[in-house]
Amino acid sequence: MKTVILYRSKHHGNTLKVVQALADHFEDIDLIDIEKLGKHEIPDLSSYHLIGLASGIYYGECDRDLKRIAQEALRPGDKCFGIMTYGGADKWHGRDLDGICRMRQADLLTSFGCPGFDTWGPFKIVGGVQKGHPDDEDIQRAIDFYQKLLDDYGAILEDDWKKRTRQRAWEAAHPAGGVVQLVKNTVNSVKRRRAGKSTSEQRPSAQDASPEDVPAGPGDEA
Ligand SMILES: Cc1cc2nc3c(=O)[nH]c(=O)nc-3n(C[C@H](O)[C@H](O)[C@H](O)COP(=O)(O)O)c2cc1C
Repeated sequence: MKTVILYRSKHHGNTLKVVQALADHFEDIDLIDIEKLGKHEIPDLSSYHLIGLASGIYYGECDRDLKRIAQEALRPGDKCFGIMTYGGADKWHGRDLDGICRMRQADLLTSFGCPGFDTWGPFKIVGGVQKGHPDDEDIQRAIDFYQKLLDDYGAILEDDWKKRTRQRAWEAAHPAGGVVQLVKNTVNSVKRRRAGKSTSEQRPSAQDASPEDVPAGPGDEA
């Protein structure tokens, strides 16, 4: 299964430590540091079965640039998960990611969070909080989290991705064409019905092909 994790880790590299450990442990995880993207660059995520969104928590939110990029890059049906590190108590910080996924009609399947070394503001005076985190235990929990995601959803996600890719290819080959085309299609279909022709008697044209007939890509022709 191909996974990409978009991440932002601007405080102490805590989030990077988690996502790098995942990329080192599992095959087929690509990392994209959104800080390294060009000013208007939006990554193409269409070849990935699963999309991770990872960030430290800054003033109660995930990184804003990460959210902006996710908002542009996600497409309907995309399957996502969140990864967060934070200096405070363990709490549900995934609200904003969930909102973005909903807005893009993508699905946030689950999320992982762990403490991260924090020297923000007053914490600096006391030498920071959550020292040493993410530690080996946090990393192991992250690996277990991702492994469970693979075990529970891996095959389903690959299958779902193939269907969506076929659907998109079909839609690209059959642009809706606006209201006029819609009326023409309806008139034609009524004419066909009146003429008593069943679709099976007709030679199928590209217009009649269903998304199921369009191969998703190389190796999916069977
Ligand atoms: C400007 C700033 C604001 C932060 N706000 C919060 C916060 O609201 N809640 C929290 O739990 N941690 C907060 N933190 C701590 C970070 O979430 C924590 O250190 C995180 O692991 C940083 O990840 P990073 O090193 O990948 O950037 C804040 C840190 C910074 C620098």
